[in-house]
Amino acid sequence: MISILAITLVLVGAAGCRSKSNSAATAQESATPANVDASRLINADQQPGNWMSYGRTYSEQRFSPLKQINDQNVGQLALAWYVDLDTRRGQEGTPIVVDGVMYFTTAWSKVFAVKAATGEKLWSYDPKVPPEWAVNACCDVVNRGVAVWEGKVFVGTLDGRLVALDAASGRPVWEILTIDAHFPYTITGAPRVVKGKVLIGNGGAEYGVRGYISAYDAASGKMVWRFYTIPGDPSQPYESPVLEKAAKTWTGPPRKLASGGTVWDSVSYDPDLDLVYFGVGNGTPWDRHARSPQGGDNLFLSSVVALKADTGEYVWHYQETPGDAWDFDSAESIVLADLTINQSPRKVLLHAPKNGFFYVLDRATGELISAKPYTAVSWATGIDLKTGRPNENPQARYEVGKGAPVAPGPPGGHSWHSMSFSPHTRLVYLPVQETGFLYKSDEHFQKKAIGYNVGIDFVAGGMPQQPEVKKAILGTIKGHLSAWDPIQQREIWRVDRQSPVNGGLLSTAGNLVFQGTAQGNLEAYRADNGQKLWSADAQSGIVAAPITYTANGEQYVAVLAGWGGVFPLAAGEAALSSGRAQNVSRLLAFKLNSKASLPSLPPFTPPQLNPPKSIATAATIHRGETLFQPLCSPCHGDVAVGGGVLPDLRYSGSLDNDQWFEIVLKGQLKQAGMVSFDKDLSHDDAAAIRAYVVFRANQSLPQPASAPK
Ligand code: HEC
Repeated sequence: MISILAITLVLVGAAGCRSKSNSAATAQESATPANVDASRLINADQQPGNWMSYGRTYSEQRFSPLKQINDQNVGQLALAWYVDLDTRRGQEGTPIVVDGVMYFTTAWSKVFAVKAATGEKLWSYDPKVPPEWAVNACCDVVNRGVAVWEGKVFVGTLDGRLVALDAASGRPVWEILTIDAHFPYTITGAPRVVKGKVLIGNGGAEYGVRGYISAYDAASGKMVWRFYTIPGDPSQPYESPVLEKAAKTWTGPPRKLASGGTVWDSVSYDPDLDLVYFGVGNGTPWDRHARSPQGGDNLFLSSVVALKADTGEYVWHYQETPGDAWDFDSAESIVLADLTINQSPRKVLLHAPKNGFFYVLDRATGELISAKPYTAVSWATGIDLKTGRPNENPQARYEVGKGAPVAPGPPGGHSWHSMSFSPHTRLVYLPVQETGFLYKSDEHFQKKAIGYNVGIDFVAGGMPQQPEVKKAILGTIKGHLSAWDPIQQREIWRVDRQSPVNGGLLSTAGNLVFQGTAQGNLEAYRADNGQKLWSADAQSGIVAAPITYTANGEQYVAVLAGWGGVFPLAAGEAALSSGRAQNVSRLLAFKLNSKASLPSLPPFTPPQLNPPKSIATAATIHRGETLFQPLCSPCHGDVAVGGGVLPDLRYSGSLDNDQWFEIVLKGQLKQAGMVSFDKDLSHDDAAAIRAYVVFRANQSLPQPASAPK
């Protein structure tokens, strides 16, 4: 999935909406809540007041035909209501709205139903995810949303369950475990429902799980099909004929460690072709030498795959990063559109995966139509349109003892933060990330009991502490909102962002584009030219995507605010310097000429560093660093700088007492999601990690002014 343990110097080389004019689509306000079926979803454009699926339509365009709020009056948009949430972990969800009711999820896979006009609570559901399971989540205990179908609300839980709730009461109707709980799988993605089947994948590629997507009968919870994305245990028969072919693209001794390819976010559907599309994640270990020693493409890692909706049978695939070694997931939003390219109408699939190229594929066949970099890319100079393969930069393949600075880095040029396509402007609105990383093989790589198993030397990739070098690197880590023309494959306008990680996108027929920012604003731009028209203070960094809907005839724009996800957990100083210090998780809803306001924030007093003296030897500190970087930095930040969501250990009260060992080795805080690491760490190891944190805390103290000469 995603990780940003550290970021270092980078050398940079460089449809139309589906609408069917039949009568089945008349709005069916019904007594049964969430009474959504195939006809309503396929004809979603006839009910633009609802937002019935993750990307609004099966095409996942996140474009709304609503235009009551538009480029003329958006200045009058104001807070209508808000709901305070009970967690300060990341909020990544896209709410669903059906017939006046909004369903949304928050961190820890909790589900809420509220009245869409007022935010008044109808019910809530807590799946009671065991807090210890959080250690299996690379990227925070987030959840991206529910799906609805025929009176039920479906949620995938962090610990791998799929739960069907009664949409009227929120009570569970059925619940199944979608994973083998001996393995560190997590579910953070939203389910989608296609032809009465609930589609759900999972995450966990950093920890060595094998990816798949499954379909469950929406009524009963019975599994209908499952598609594995990579070959499994070589001593067992292949689960599908195509996996036998895929196995030939993996090399070396029988794979003990090799895995990955999780399906953790995007799924879209074309009802005419009856194809389901999804994106496949990176491999584990990231280092291909450790995964597939004699090379190979390693299908279906980092690919887009098309399956038959009824059976899960393979139809086509397109691999975007053959033999991935850089954590280049292809799990990012898959948008379907109908475009005219070279005078011919084409049914296309638009995709901007982490590897930095924007792909246009023919979605009937998987044929590559075009590909161009949408951000700084150094691992390949381009994509060969004849072979469909990247022209790789040989220097990007790192080894033991030979690091390679590569752009994009593990956060990707674009991650799960959804993009949007407007059939009016024919532009894709893309939240672009500008990142890089020094990749280097971990010389002493061996599988750990818990935590990352990616085979990368994270000490080499950690943020250097020389002030000028650090400043220069931080200056390169940023982002922008790009309005991208997928036909010409070029940027039409952009808005620069201070941070790489910002919210997902919404575009509307009111010639508007909405995006939340890391700094805590929700903003609106003119869709055709990028002129800034409106901004509201959300009091907290936003990573989720806004939606729009109507209730009682009025148009609303709603978004989940709440800073979190992988970037603030893992990215250390890059996150600290770009996010907002305070973090208030809320659901916010806006409408024209409204009068609500948020309570003012209490004044923020930054904590003071007060570490014990650093007395450990350089060797101990170094050992602590080699343990801290892969094991602790995914949650406590690169080189022990917390990004503002989980504790910054430099400030810990346990740096000079034995509570440190109670927490790290005995699980004293496991109820809060901090497990014991005693399977991987001895008492000495834990002491060395602490010595490293103490060293870093002292290194971070304000330097005394130099004495006058
Ligand atoms: C999967 C995420 C995760 C990982 C990985 C992780 N921690 Fe934590 N840690 C947490 C959470 C969550 C808390 C906060 C618990 C709370 O709210 O009290 C925490 C709290 C702590 C605390 C107490 C903080 C304080 O302010 O005193 C210490 C000490 C700590 N962790 C050490 C470590 C060490 C050492 C490692 C690596 C061996 C590590 N953690 C790895 C999630 C993690």
